[in-house]
Amino acid sequence: MARTVSRLSVRKRPLKTLERVLSKAGLGSRREARSWIGAGRVRVNGRLIQTPDLWVDLERDRVTLDDKPVRPETRLYLLLYKPTGYVTTYHDPEGRPTVYDLIRDMEAWVAPVGRLDRDTSGLLILTNDTQLAERLTNPEHQVPKTYLVKCASLLTDEQIERLRQGVELSDGMSRPAEVIRLRDSGKHTFLEMTIREGRNRQVRRMLEAVDSTVLKLVRTAIGPVRIGDLRMGTWRALTAAELIALKGGATSRPATRSSPRTLRRRC
Ligand code: URA
Repeated sequence: MARTVSRLSVRKRPLKTLERVLSKAGLGSRREARSWIGAGRVRVNGRLIQTPDLWVDLERDRVTLDDKPVRPETRLYLLLYKPTGYVTTYHDPEGRPTVYDLIRDMEAWVAPVGRLDRDTSGLLILTNDTQLAERLTNPEHQVPKTYLVKCASLLTDEQIERLRQGVELSDGMSRPAEVIRLRDSGKHTFLEMTIREGRNRQVRRMLEAVDSTVLKLVRTAIGPVRIGDLRMGTWRALTAAELIALKGGATSRPATRSSPRTLRRRC
């Protein structure tokens, strides 16, 4: 008779290499972890270990760095309203302010999911959940990102239709975009644009492709997550409902539109 293997007996143990355990705990990069191990600062169950590739079972083994226990990393998911003038990197060789200046004293290392140009403001997700980051940035998943755009000129219906169809960019045709004319005011058209790609300076280049330019660009939503009432330069944690929506299939639907009042305030 065939033996049945219980689910429990085949459950994978949470084995990771020592180097990975340390970096996953949000203490530093894998390279740094290797150097701590090499320098004899790491112990497993009280024993000094200098092998970065040692397999460690997080459920059973006690790992310490400089005699302090290393705990599994807490997952962090932040929603930051990036102001213009801030770059989306950790260190800027030109010394400009970075988004990390706005999120000091985090209990674990977080990285921005995708980028916003220095001159673009709006919603930026930062997390240490690399799987979610991959899901949100992988072009295959086509996660919608919504922007408010102040154009340098009045746009004709024909120009807007070209944006909707997709335009020729230096790195190939853009995918069709959802474009809503919010209003025309003086010499400017204000648009709400939703794109499902994240190419470099994409919205700006799309507007250039239809012979206009962007004067102001604000990202208001990523998938189902909206910027809402968040104040510029501040951040909050993603809610459980937002996280479930981002991790689930809901990323394929853009967020419901902001109220006209919110849109007016942001532009
Ligand atoms: N498109 C742009 O042109 N810039 C951004 O920062 C984001 C999208």
